[in-house]
Amino acid sequence: MQTQNFQILRSLTIGGKRLDSCVVLAPMAGITDTVLRQVVRMHSKNCLLMSEMVSSEALKHNKKEQYILDHVRQEFPLSFQISGHKPDILAEGARKLEEMATFIDINMGCPAPKIIKNFDGARLMTDLALASQIITVVKQAVNIPVTVKCRLGWDHNSKNHVEFAKMAEESGADALIVHARTRSQMYSGRADWQAIAEVKQAVNIPVIGNGDINSPEKALEYMQISGCDAIAVGRGILGDPGLIARIEKYLFTGELEPLPDIKTRLEIAMVHIQKEVDYRGEDGGIRYMRKFFAHYVRNVRNACKHRFDLVRCSTLREVKEIFDRILDIQ
Ligand SMILES: Cc1cc2nc3c(=O)[nH]c(=O)nc-3n(C[C@H](O)[C@H](O)[C@H](O)COP(=O)(O)O)c2cc1C
Repeated sequence: MQTQNFQILRSLTIGGKRLDSCVVLAPMAGITDTVLRQVVRMHSKNCLLMSEMVSSEALKHNKKEQYILDHVRQEFPLSFQISGHKPDILAEGARKLEEMATFIDINMGCPAPKIIKNFDGARLMTDLALASQIITVVKQAVNIPVTVKCRLGWDHNSKNHVEFAKMAEESGADALIVHARTRSQMYSGRADWQAIAEVKQAVNIPVIGNGDINSPEKALEYMQISGCDAIAVGRGILGDPGLIARIEKYLFTGELEPLPDIKTRLEIAMVHIQKEVDYRGEDGGIRYMRKFFAHYVRNVRNACKHRFDLVRCSTLREVKEIFDRILDIQ
């Protein structure tokens, strides 16, 4: 364990841009839309928020999914993540995103079959020459810092996180976000934070560790194990968008805030739902929220039944009635 001399820094400087937090909301397609980012921002003033990935090909052909590009001022600092494998198209896409972002992040870690079959995402970790070319041209194309999100490699037998990290630094990346799993692990097994320590020791750019942080204590433990400069939190915020703020408080002051009780959790859920309804309309908003309901009602009495009822709701009033029922029987 690399705990000696380890100090948590409140700030993080990436490519000359200073952030007043070392906690990042990890990008999650279908989850970290502008609304969720705003809800996370309501709790944490300074964390870096990351968009869902935006396809460089879609940007080129103006098939921009508007929902993915939407954002508001309060979200800054905000990073837009771009995916693809053709250097020039990625560079062109990055230029289009530049005006709406603090940073551009290049996706070199997505394991989804539909992404890797096009040689995008984690597939780029198997071709360091191409990955290097992409980083170089994207970096040249924009005037804002460029980060790269990667994994530990393709599979257990071809882990190349250290070599990849050195290549990314030499190619001009301003920081690395490392999800401590291989592509073949997808999201299973445990994230290997010792591997993040190996990356941290190999490069001089900031290393943002990622994988399995779902509490303030884990955030501190993993930062100590790895010595990383910052952490990115993904699935932990599902049903708990205040988690990043609680992590920041614990890291910066040592104060451990209790988990929100059920009433508070449902109040936060209601803010999230209302904002999605305002944004997507009642039908679209409630439909979109279906993937979040299970997380917001986990551990409540009769959670299974409530989940079953919630995913069948089509109006805000129906959702509110179920939430009231939940609170009545707790
Ligand atoms: C539903 C979902 C969507 C994701 N979408 C993206 C994405 O668009 N870009 C990306 O780099 N990683 C994506 N990820 C990976 C996360 O950013 C993160 O690396 C991973 O979930 C591990 O962190 P965690 O254990 O804190 O969730 C996604 C993960 C999930 C669960």
